[in-house]
Amino acid sequence: MDEISWGFVGPGRIARAVAADMEHVPHARLAGVASRSQQRAAAFAQEFGADRVHDSYRGIIEDPQIDVLYIATPHPQHHAIALAAIEAGKAVLVEKAFTATVEGAQEVIDAARSRGVFAMEAMWTRFQPAVVRLRELVGDGAIGEVRCVQADLAVDKPFDPADRLFDPAQGGGAMLDLGVYVVSFAHYFLGAPDRVEVVGSLAPTGVDLEAALLLGYDDGRAATLLASLRQPSPGSARIIGTEGVIDVPPRFHHPSSIVLTPRGGDPEVIEAPALGGGYSHELIEVTECLRAGRTESEVMPLADTLAVQRTLNQACEALGVHHQEDSDLRV
Ligand SMILES: NC(=O)c1ccc[n+]([C@@H]2O[C@H](COP(=O)([O-])OP(=O)(O)OC[C@H]3O[C@@H](n4cnc5c(N)ncnc54)[C@H](OP(=O)(O)O)[C@@H]3O)[C@@H](O)[C@H]2O)c1
Repeated sequence: MDEISWGFVGPGRIARAVAADMEHVPHARLAGVASRSQQRAAAFAQEFGADRVHDSYRGIIEDPQIDVLYIATPHPQHHAIALAAIEAGKAVLVEKAFTATVEGAQEVIDAARSRGVFAMEAMWTRFQPAVVRLRELVGDGAIGEVRCVQADLAVDKPFDPADRLFDPAQGGGAMLDLGVYVVSFAHYFLGAPDRVEVVGSLAPTGVDLEAALLLGYDDGRAATLLASLRQPSPGSARIIGTEGVIDVPPRFHHPSSIVLTPRGGDPEVIEAPALGGGYSHELIEVTECLRAGRTESEVMPLADTLAVQRTLNQACEALGVHHQEDSDLRV
């Protein structure tokens, strides 16, 4: 596969930001778009130069000119589209949170594995050059053994029941939208926790407004995490090891630098800016995986996605938030 043809599904806010980064991706082009509305699809196609325009998700799934779908619908609307795409043999990059439920994630993952079709969660943080450098440093033992991860990601979002972030039918709440970043980050450096504790509050629509999480590990390691729609926070992260600390300055989910402070030493700022808006790196990963015939990313493997989904849903359930996949979505 010399050039990978991308199709975008659900031309909303994030699809536009990601499409703008396509110019930084070698061997790839934005070939098509699908919307539930012909008008929205046509407007997006014109803006980003796509020539395959579909007024149904089924249309792009069955389009033989498209190699991979970027699914950018709200969380409960990922599952049905991803499953249908995989069944049709189409590779998928699925926005975070991967699905609304653990069962939904498991089903998509099982389908991808049994069909031998590429699937990846669009956790763009893991592909940021600064985070890649951070992983290398930790792997090389620059801060010794990692014992603790701290991270916060919060915004002040005025309550609006119609907004996706507060609408249960669209998987609203802080956890699946912002919590996924802090949880995935903690999992990346500590693995899946042995227990999850959470404190939080709910919005009038019943979705989680704020959540403070403690991920606990039987050997005493821990992650302390915050996600909230109620008040803004810097959005920083810190990895604490036995021989030093690495700070990830705001916003840690797409940083341009990290700060390494070895135990007893001076802080060293390491600059590693992203290409374009920062989405290019996940697009490059998928494009390269497909060109190499791989069915999973080693950086964002499906097992990690499933483990993160378990932590997120466990925390939601503890707060009294019960997510569901959208079974009425027409695909
Ligand atoms: N990586 C990031 O930085 C980032 C940032 C923001 C959001 N996201 C993720 O991207 C996904 C979409 O977020 P967004 O902010 O782009 O949402 P959005 O602006 O509301 O767009 C979502 C699109 O999905 C389609 N859709 C399908 N079923 C829908 C339904 N039942 N209700 C509403 N829309 C539906 C709509 O397109 P049509 O009707 O035209 O088909 C809509 O334009 C979420 O999973 C979110 O977590 C990621």
